[in-house]
Amino acid sequence: MEKICVIGLGYIGLPTSVMFANHGKKVHGMDVNIKAVEKIKNKQLHIEENGLEERLVTAIDSGNLTVSTSPEQADVFIIAVPSPINADHTANLDYVRSATKSIVPYLQKGNLVILESTVPPRTVLDVMMPILVESGLEIGTELLVSHSPERVIPGRVFEELVNNSRIVGGINEESSEKTAELYRTFVKGEIIKTDATTAEMVKVMENTYRDVNIAFANELARISENVGVNVWEAIRLANHHPRVNIHMPGPGVGGHCIAVDPWFLVELDQKNAQIIHLARKTNDSMPEFTALKAKRVVDEHQINNPKIAVLGLAFKANIDDMRESPSVEVIHHIKDLNLEYSAFDPHIHEVNIANQTLNLEEAITHADLLLVLTDHNEFKNLDPQEVAKHVRSKIVVDTKNCLNREAWEAAGFEVRVLGDSKN
Ligand SMILES: NC(=O)c1ccc[n+]([C@@H]2O[C@H](COP(=O)([O-])OP(=O)(O)OC[C@H]3O[C@@H](n4cnc5c(N)ncnc54)[C@H](O)[C@@H]3O)[C@@H](O)[C@H]2O)c1
Repeated sequence: MEKICVIGLGYIGLPTSVMFANHGKKVHGMDVNIKAVEKIKNKQLHIEENGLEERLVTAIDSGNLTVSTSPEQADVFIIAVPSPINADHTANLDYVRSATKSIVPYLQKGNLVILESTVPPRTVLDVMMPILVESGLEIGTELLVSHSPERVIPGRVFEELVNNSRIVGGINEESSEKTAELYRTFVKGEIIKTDATTAEMVKVMENTYRDVNIAFANELARISENVGVNVWEAIRLANHHPRVNIHMPGPGVGGHCIAVDPWFLVELDQKNAQIIHLARKTNDSMPEFTALKAKRVVDEHQINNPKIAVLGLAFKANIDDMRESPSVEVIHHIKDLNLEYSAFDPHIHEVNIANQTLNLEEAITHADLLLVLTDHNEFKNLDPQEVAKHVRSKIVVDTKNCLNREAWEAAGFEVRVLGDSKN
């Protein structure tokens, strides 16, 4: 039975390990995070993902999935470690480097190494290859190498792992074919072969497209507020055009993909990455815009020592991931504006930031403004009549246009929506 060693058991590596294990492969997962490994061994989750828990139990109970803090010999090595940016927006490839180094002692003739992490184009060739040659194996014949970027969306990982089309880019045809063959184990979507650098570029382009499109929507939201239009309605109508797909505005862009990957292209070619760079800056300016909007609203109402209840810390709906979350930036700006605040997120079960509470009621008690930053179902389903019993002033700023405005207004709330002229 083919054996796979997965390096990095996070949002991508763990579901991928579980999928292969539950489709008949022998999988050894390794992670440098001892706590995560211990939890996984005990069939517990260190991350939230729909359907992961039961699949993990099946994988471990079947004996197909083992985990530890070191790699093991295998036929295939899949690297799914972080690829963040540094404070100066340059790519931090330290994790990719150390993960690649860690497998070198285990590599054998005939192995395949697949990088799943999203990386700047040329990383496989310029960063991984010089490390992999230390195995003494001839690259391309004795050791196959490829990049297979991941396209899944958190929350729907298992659906998308199976149904999404997948790009596989080998350093040669044999590497691409072997990689495609492996993913056919569970992928029902189309598997399209290319070379490694093109595959890297494709993934980064996809996320950059979305960042630029969101920046465009954010720009339209700001313009709409000034010209007297509800941007949400305008976008909805514009998207009826058969060739138009404008994204949605919001308090900023978060996560380790869309807010990060465009910087890879800016770093690679600063001179040409003009729109890309501006889009990044536009999206990064939205948290301040949002905090200032909240301040303007409480100022209008002449509320003394207003308290803002920040609802939503995850970077997107219905997940527990706070990486690069614009909410954290909004809170920085709220602090800078000397506004009192509390923060709550139903999906975040640990206190990560000051004034965060794990209890909704505590967060909204005596609040003067509810600032909705994430369109979690829990917020969409809030009962405004119930909320009204706890707050001091009935004002809500909805940056995701996710609340039932009529219901909130019926409960006596003043509802302000980001990108709406009525504000
Ligand atoms: N999460 C997503 O939705 C998503 C989607 C597409 C692509 N990606 C890309 O996939 C990659 C992994 O993302 P993620 O969300 O799974 O990250 P993650 O932080 O959830 O998981 C990465 C794991 O790797 C471990 N790790 C770090 N260095 C290691 C090393 N040297 N050896 C072994 N383990 C190590 C960490 O402890 C962590 O558990 C990133 O490049 C990301 O951009 C993520």
